[in-house]
Amino acid sequence: MRTAVVTGGGSGLGRAIAAELVERGYRVHVTDVDAGAADRVAAELGGEARGSALDVRDEAACRGLAESIGRTGSLDLWVNNAGVFFSGVPWEQSAERRQTMLDVNVTGLMNGTIAALGPMRAAGRGHVVNVVSLAGLVAAPGEVAYSASKHAAIAFTLGTLFDLRRTGCKGIELSAVCPDGIWTPMLENKLEDPDAAPSFSGRLLTAEEVAREVGKLTERPRPILVVPRWRGPQLRLFDLFPRLGLRLLPLVMWDARRKQRRYKKLIEGGKWP
Ligand SMILES: NC(=O)c1ccc[n+]([C@@H]2O[C@H](COP(=O)([O-])OP(=O)(O)OC[C@H]3O[C@@H](n4cnc5c(N)ncnc54)[C@H](O)[C@@H]3O)[C@@H](O)[C@H]2O)c1
Repeated sequence: MRTAVVTGGGSGLGRAIAAELVERGYRVHVTDVDAGAADRVAAELGGEARGSALDVRDEAACRGLAESIGRTGSLDLWVNNAGVFFSGVPWEQSAERRQTMLDVNVTGLMNGTIAALGPMRAAGRGHVVNVVSLAGLVAAPGEVAYSASKHAAIAFTLGTLFDLRRTGCKGIELSAVCPDGIWTPMLENKLEDPDAAPSFSGRLLTAEEVAREVGKLTERPRPILVVPRWRGPQLRLFDLFPRLGLRLLPLVMWDARRKQRRYKKLIEGGKWP
């Protein structure tokens, strides 16, 4: 039986990915900094799923989990999903919030990736899936420090894949998943927050539809998966032409706010999802 680890699996997207992987026949280790949430999700999923506490900021704990799975079988898939998000302009955000985003979204993802590569490199095979965001592809106004952490996450993911190939390791895959806004607890208190409007600027996704794409990715690995796909080229335009981005910014933010209000109405009226 293939074995997978999902970090931040106690809620939202991580929970949905864990469910998708159980469906696909994996023995899933549902982990979360919130041990109770990880246990609840594992119990809900049943079968071979097991829940445990894992704070991704703890490098030794990540390594310990990867090694213990490697000792008793194979570690086939490690999904670095744990993440935190605080919106706001960077000069008003506390240093503590900025640091927490860097610690979880960057250092945590690095810890998980490196831990997983231990047994995977020994076996010569495996797949690390890193949940990033569209905010990792383009600077998201109002979500700048989060966006910076996700840019670091994508650079680390792709760069590590390059280094694996450069050093002759062909059997291990690394993927960065970049979804648009997803309706999870992360966005639940953001429906009226103008700084968080970019999260609603495209098509709001459900955790289940992103998890299905992650499931397919496990069968056909690729370095970057953008969900929905068309948002990648659209947003990369702003990255390529920042002056165009500056010019269009008022229009883009106005449209994002309009969509955010529309989603608020739909969600509060029970008409979405
Ligand atoms: N919701 C969105 O709009 C959206 C969009 C793109 C990408 N993402 C990314 O998807 C991932 C999952 O987010 P979500 O939307 O399901 O949010 P969520 O808040 O529902 O879930 C995040 C989970 O991570 C856990 N977590 C937080 N800090 C942790 C730590 N130090 N160690 C281990 N677990 C920790 C939380 O306890 C929680 O269970 C994140 O990386 C997020 O950045 C979310």
